Amino acid sequence: MCGIVGIVSDRPVSARLVEGLIRLEYRGYDSAGIAVVNGQGIVRRRAPGKIVNLQSELNSAPIDGTCGIAHTRWATHGRPNKENAHPHQFGSVAIVHNGIIENFKPLREELAKCGHVFATQTDSEVIAHLIQYHLDKGLSEEAAFLAAVERLEGAYAVAALVGDSNQTLFAARHGSPLVVGFGDGEMFIGSDAFALAPFTKRVLYLEEGDSAVVKINDVCVRDKAGALVTREVMTANISAVMADKGNYRHFMEKEIHEQPEALARTLAAYVDSDTNLPMLGDAAPFLKSADRLVAIACGTAFLSASVAKYWFEALCGLHVETDIASEFRYRTPALPDHGAALFISQSGETADTLAAMRYCKRAGMDTIGVLNAPESSIARETSAVLRTLAGPEIGVASTKAFTAQLAVLAMCALGTAHIRGRLSEDEVKAHISALNALPKLVQQALQTKDQCEAIAPTLARAKQIFFIGRGVYYPLALEGALKLKEVTYLPAEGYAAGELKHGPIALIEEGTPVVVIAPTDVLMEKTISNVEEMAARGANVIAITDAAGAEHFTDRTENIIILPDMTGLTGPIVTAIPLQLLAYYTALTLGTNMDQPRNLAKSVTVE
Ligand code: M6R
Repeated sequence: MCGIVGIVSDRPVSARLVEGLIRLEYRGYDSAGIAVVNGQGIVRRRAPGKIVNLQSELNSAPIDGTCGIAHTRWATHGRPNKENAHPHQFGSVAIVHNGIIENFKPLREELAKCGHVFATQTDSEVIAHLIQYHLDKGLSEEAAFLAAVERLEGAYAVAALVGDSNQTLFAARHGSPLVVGFGDGEMFIGSDAFALAPFTKRVLYLEEGDSAVVKINDVCVRDKAGALVTREVMTANISAVMADKGNYRHFMEKEIHEQPEALARTLAAYVDSDTNLPMLGDAAPFLKSADRLVAIACGTAFLSASVAKYWFEALCGLHVETDIASEFRYRTPALPDHGAALFISQSGETADTLAAMRYCKRAGMDTIGVLNAPESSIARETSAVLRTLAGPEIGVASTKAFTAQLAVLAMCALGTAHIRGRLSEDEVKAHISALNALPKLVQQALQTKDQCEAIAPTLARAKQIFFIGRGVYYPLALEGALKLKEVTYLPAEGYAAGELKHGPIALIEEGTPVVVIAPTDVLMEKTISNVEEMAARGANVIAITDAAGAEHFTDRTENIIILPDMTGLTGPIVTAIPLQLLAYYTALTLGTNMDQPRNLAKSVTVE
């Protein structure tokens, strides 16, 4: 989603504004721009498409100054063209905005009646007009900025240049994160600390409703009531080195291959080295006493929750409801009196998941975040945090974050089963020992990459592709389809294998690829019956199974991807690997930008 960088310094800032934007590319965007105060006033450069287009604009018509703001835009209102790119300027004001201004239409109408003419179709432009309107009424720069922010409804992180020569950044947040960075003789604003990492790690996180006036040597923060407040300055827990691709061609490829290490790191953090039992920290008392669990997330994280439902119900006898955050928050859900709510999110900033978490908190539920970003909004607001130690995930497609979520949720289900007396110590230890084999199993699963690469052209030519599975492999089928469609733009659907004959089988034609996820388990034979039904109608069956399962598929299957033997809870984690590889190599065959697929954002901070 949109990214914001601001710098006020005693040195020129343009190049570093662009550097900050490059670090925000991973969030997903479709245009970019910068504005600086240069002695003659505010000047800006903007371009549709990638930052490289903005760099060309800047090369042919350079601008610089010692105070500036920059933005990557993920279009919501108005097409992703140059006119709609941020910064938006009106009079002596330029702004960048992340979020959605819900009342922008009445505000525009009101300002149009006062003679304001709008240059874009965006919701954001109205912010610049509002600030200028208040400047024209004689308010000071800060007062004009605050008066404008006061009128905004919806979600926003805003940074502004106000006044033709002012060496000051104005910022405000409500619903979208914003950090202030402390440099040596210069100050920064960023939509996350990662963007500022090359410049400083000393940051202050603005809280909901905060506004800030940032000058070259200090920052003045007000809370939503307008009172001056002190917010803690902390050292951001991130690498200053931009996660780079190393020897890989793409972040997605690199992150797929990082999974053995990410899983080893994550699992180790949850096992007590003395007792060899799961450690659930602050989440343990909530999980022990809950009479029901609600697991809420979006996208791939929702599919982690869906796998966890099978585990918690089978191992803990605990009723689990899973919900897509955007549905949950608006359907007046009946919440349990003594329930705990799990919020699963890589970024910890997904707007719908954050809103659902706040809803549960207001309802008095215990809230637990399963999160990859330890300084995110959800991390800061939930009662307990279970971290996934996947490391920064830059590719838009969730790969290592997904399997790390599954690893944490597996540990969580085992720990809960233990503290609730459903599994003995020995049973839990046997499960943990199976999970500890994951780094090795995943490494073996990565060796299917050549086979996945060889299958990719078949998928790339297909009109549509199906993924099917039963039990814990049903959410994996959904994940396989989601991964493929987001990076290749091919129509792909996941189904519960037993559900096909109730409708979707009508879509099977001669040669339609059907990826069947069926390692050996109690349901495998049933899935194989469904494969027969597909094969009889001409489907091109691609099986993902293990050596024993492969025996059952031989006659009817074009391709069999054989994974190592998987015991305990390891199956869904290991089977994720060939699904990711199929998506990656199909995208590679088609030449799509799998790290930044069209229309997608890494962190979805608007609803
Ligand atoms: O940051 P989150 O885990 O909350 O993000 C949730 C989804 O937006 C995310 O998983 C999305 O579906 C991925 N692009 C899938 O690969």
